[in-house]
Amino acid sequence: MNSNRRSVPDYWEWFTEGRYGAFIHWGPYAEYGRGEQVLFREHMDQRVYEERACRWNPRRFDPEQWAYVIRKAGMKYACFTTRHHDGYCLWDTRYTDYSSARQAPGRDYVKEFTDAFRAEGLRIGFYYSWADWRVPAFFDGPEKDPDGWETMRQYMHDQVVELLTSYGRIDHFFFDGAWPRTHAELGSSELVRRMRELQPHILINNRLGAAGPGRTDHADGGQGAGERADMGDFGTPEHRIVADPERLWESCQVTTWRLWGYASGERWRPADYWLDLLCECAETGSGGGGNLLLNVGPQPDGQLPPEFVERALEVGRWLEVHGEAIYGTDGGALTDFVTRGRQTMKGNCLYLIIRFWDGQPELRLADLTTPVRTVTLLTTGQRLAFERQGDDLLIRGLPAERPTRLFPVIKVECEGRPATNSWGKQRLWAGDPARIADWARTRGTSVKAGRR
Ligand code: GLC
Repeated sequence: MNSNRRSVPDYWEWFTEGRYGAFIHWGPYAEYGRGEQVLFREHMDQRVYEERACRWNPRRFDPEQWAYVIRKAGMKYACFTTRHHDGYCLWDTRYTDYSSARQAPGRDYVKEFTDAFRAEGLRIGFYYSWADWRVPAFFDGPEKDPDGWETMRQYMHDQVVELLTSYGRIDHFFFDGAWPRTHAELGSSELVRRMRELQPHILINNRLGAAGPGRTDHADGGQGAGERADMGDFGTPEHRIVADPERLWESCQVTTWRLWGYASGERWRPADYWLDLLCECAETGSGGGGNLLLNVGPQPDGQLPPEFVERALEVGRWLEVHGEAIYGTDGGALTDFVTRGRQTMKGNCLYLIIRFWDGQPELRLADLTTPVRTVTLLTTGQRLAFERQGDDLLIRGLPAERPTRLFPVIKVECEGRPATNSWGKQRLWAGDPARIADWARTRGTSVKAGRR
């Protein structure tokens, strides 16, 4: 296949093919309904929080239902919070009693999640927080508290090894919350080496600790994730979509407006907003990067919020019809298409994802130089007439009615890998200004002679 796809080991292709995964933030914090960081943000009494966490006992957690919804949503993998910054563990860890297995539920939620999601054919990801707000040594660090720190460091390494040895094949691992520790303190290089011995196929993210003391190194606007540009298999832009030119990346985004854990009374972003995020990741991700990890914070009783399910399934239905414009695509933005929507590419095909449907029968795509074989409205399967006028492609016969509530897609099959002229490559505010001067000169006037 003619493509600009970055070559990744074939055992990582599920990630570049899949494009779309679920982030699941769940834990005893859900009870408060104010996000996953309520303990810290409200500076609560740790004992009061812990006491309630130990009593937390979700009665309606049904991992098969979760897995079914996530698969029907068109997501190909899911990343589950095994332990967030509050320190509560969702699996039967032998290193602490502060877990769903040893407290009220008496259940290993990580095992239940893993079994159910795998049974639906989904890939498995684990989120694990370095930070644990209950442990002073994490924040004191090795200089102030060498023994306490060593105990903590060992605890984290043991837990990660435990997670990677108890649940079969794990595909994706999402560290978080490294601040204020450096990667040398965390021993993350050594741990990553061990992780690869245990799970040679695993993809590990870049939140592996700052490069040196006082260094931030995270690209998330100062939130302390400890992101590294030079470590990890994939970048993790958070609340943002920015391509990582050097490696795979996955933008993590919320489906509400701010918090990751369940928040009662939060507003939900509409389905077309979710889809826009997904299309933007696919369009921005040249060379096989560009995934979207889209979050849900399940309710304290264990159910997925109905607002999430409704939107997830709506996007899932869109993907059933238009999935080829997303899955396994290798970037887009071939020509300047911002006035209409987004573009993705795969092999010889260019997909025009229309955000703004104007009801006009004709669409003119400028600057495409490759000869075109067929044009199809993917949404309905209807073949569309087209005509070449130089580097312009005139597509005809579009329906007046928007053919789907979400984004209609036009598939342009070319005779080779779609390519563009220089206007397609050079955009506004970039490239050679001489071309704009020449274009302005076609008016044949000056500022003073604007009118004829
Ligand atoms: C941030 C937050 C955390 C959340 C994570 C998701 O680092 O501290 O609460 O889990 O982002 O990427």
